[in-house]
Parts: sequence; C-alpha cells; structure tokens
Amino acid sequence: MRIFSGIQPTGRKHLGNYIGAIEQYVAYQDRGEAIYCIVDLHATTVPYEPALLRERLYDTAAVLLAAGLDPARCIFFRQGDVPEHTELTWLLSSVTAFGDLNRMHQFKEKAGAQRDLVSAGLFTYPILMAADVLAYRADQVPVGDDQRQHIELMRDIAQRFNARFAPDAATPPLVVPQGVYREIGARIMDLQEPERKMSTTGGTEQGTVLVLDEPKTIERRFRRAVTDSGSEIRRAPEKPGISNLIEILAAVRGSDFASVESDFADARYGDFKLAVAAAVIERLRPVQERYAELRPDETALEAILTAGAEKAHAIAAPVVAEVRELMGVGPNPRRSGPDS
Ligand code: AMP
Ligand code: TRP
Repeated sequence: MRIFSGIQPTGRKHLGNYIGAIEQYVAYQDRGEAIYCIVDLHATTVPYEPALLRERLYDTAAVLLAAGLDPARCIFFRQGDVPEHTELTWLLSSVTAFGDLNRMHQFKEKAGAQRDLVSAGLFTYPILMAADVLAYRADQVPVGDDQRQHIELMRDIAQRFNARFAPDAATPPLVVPQGVYREIGARIMDLQEPERKMSTTGGTEQGTVLVLDEPKTIERRFRRAVTDSGSEIRRAPEKPGISNLIEILAAVRGSDFASVESDFADARYGDFKLAVAAAVIERLRPVQERYAELRPDETALEAILTAGAEKAHAIAAPVVAEVRELMGVGPNPRRSGPDS
C-alpha cells in the first residue's frame, strides 16, 4: 500500500496540524510505503515573501523530522524539486470540471481573505494537490477533516481521466485514492472561537497553539480557553469549547472521549484545562527538543530533501510519461528511440 500526504511550508504548524495530520504521517510509515511532501508550490498561491518561503520550508521540514518522520522509512521531499507535479497539474486540468473548482470551500474562504489579487493559482490549487497524489498512484492520503472536499475532487479527477483516456484498461492508469481521517482529532477547533477550526490564517492568535510554542504560552492558551457557563465535562453540541478540549486530550492520550469524561467527572473546568495543557506540553516537549537540534543544520535538511526528491522523481516520472502517452501529448514514445 502506498501513502501520500502534503503539508504547507508555513513554518507555524499548530496543534491541529500536529494531531490531525503529522501524527498520522508518523504512524503510517509503518503501514506501507509512505511519501510526504512539503508543498512549496501551493504556498505561492497567496501573497508571500520568496526569501521567507525558504526559511519556512526548513522550519516545516525540521518540525516533521522532529515529530518522527524518518527518511530511512519514508520518502520526504519538497514539491518544487519534482517537476512532474506541475506537468501533471496541467495535463489533469483537462479532466477537471471548472464548476467543481468553483465549489471548493477553501478557495472561497481564501479568495475572500485576499485584499488585492485572487490568483488563478489559488483557484487551480486543488488540481496541483490531485497531481501530487495521483503522480505516485497512492492508495491512501492521511489528512485533516478540512481536506475532504479536495480529496473528493482528486478522486473525481482520477476517475474522469481513467474513463476518458483508458476506458478499456484492465488496470486503470491512475489509482483512485482514499482520504484517511483520524477518528479523534481530525478537526481541532480554535480555543477562543471553538466554532472555527484552529488555523494560523483563519483562527485567532490566542486560540491557536503552535507546535513550537513555549510551555508557558501553551498553558496560558489553555487556561484562557473559552468554555461555557455550565460545569460538566462532557461532549455536547452546545458545549463546543469543552468538547474540543476533550477531543484534544483524548487524541493526545490515545484514548477515547468516554475515558476522558469519566476521568474528569468530578473535576472543575479550571483543573481540566490545566490537565489538557500539561498533556499537550508533555507531548510536544520532545518534538521541540529535537527541532532545536535539527533546525540549525540547513545543509543536512537540504541533503534529506534532495535525496527524497530523487526517489520521488523515480516513481512519478514513469506515471506522468504514461499520462502523456495516453493523452497523445508530446512525441510518441514508441517511435522516438535512440535511432530515430
Ligand atoms: P496545512 O498546514 O494547511 O498544509 O495543513 C496540513 C494538514 O493539517 C492537513 O492535512 C490539514 O487537513 C490538517 N489540519 C489543518 N488544520 C487542522 C485542524 N484544525 N485540525 C485537524 N487537522 C488540521
Ligand atoms: N491542501 C493541503 C492542505 O492545505 C496540503 C496538500 C497539498 C496535500 N498537496 C497535498 C495534502 C496532497 C494531501 C495530499 O493541508
């Protein structure tokens, strides 16, 4: 089984990214052939500083390695190093429905947040994401809940490509991938506005816990987390703040909601919040320590990403060559031998 996922090089990875995605990446290294990519090309679809993009890319690479990605057990690379991603994006755009792109929630949210330019890249972002996965014929894509619509679209793109260009193939050329979402922790909410997902771009600063935040900052964020006027520690639709804290603790402990609820049945909100903070701090501490060791050595990070890109390229190149051939694009590979 092949696994693929991508993450943006924003550098400011938060607890939602960590619980919803990064922990899954680490676990999936033992479940199949895992391929993980830092998507620098996706990051160019909103305003950004070129020099900072490189810095944030190293930040993100170091966070992922510190969290437990092991280049000996997965392929870990930078999207921009493997040109097949962009080539396949263009090829797949011919089997992507404009109307589908127009319905993407993330596009609408991000487009609404732009003051000047809403780039065409922001609109076609989901095709690049589909190309990321389809170029590797990946079977499973571990992501957070907010990516469901993008995953559905990439499945449609793969199916439409197969139906259009290889209707009779015994084995369809593109694998239709499945999204995999954690049962607990696929959608961590903002601690101040628990109706919104935790996010460094769309959430509140006070309600967002960063993977690299100092323990005292993390504790303060949880201590001030919004709850409700009740006193019961149990999950309920009218208790989004407490429900989110229960979910965070269950995810971090690797337990379920019921055991958190029963452990804190007699606790007060304040004590519960401190317990969640302590668990999160303990979980992030080793990641922060390893990060401090790894981040300064950019040469070593670069070497890991470059070696990963070579392995990624070796998988993606023949897939994209097959797509080109099926689409009738470029020279006919059966005619262009060394003698012709
Ligand atoms: P990004 O930083 O946008 O590239 O997101 C990286 C991964 O984190 C994706 O798989 C997202 O679905 C996941 N993710 C982002 N925000 C959250 C959240 N609040 N809760 C759970 N997962 C999230
Ligand atoms: N769009 C994803 C996000 O915002 C990141 C991403 C890019 C991705 N390419 C991918 C995720 C391929 C999974 C597979 O989080």
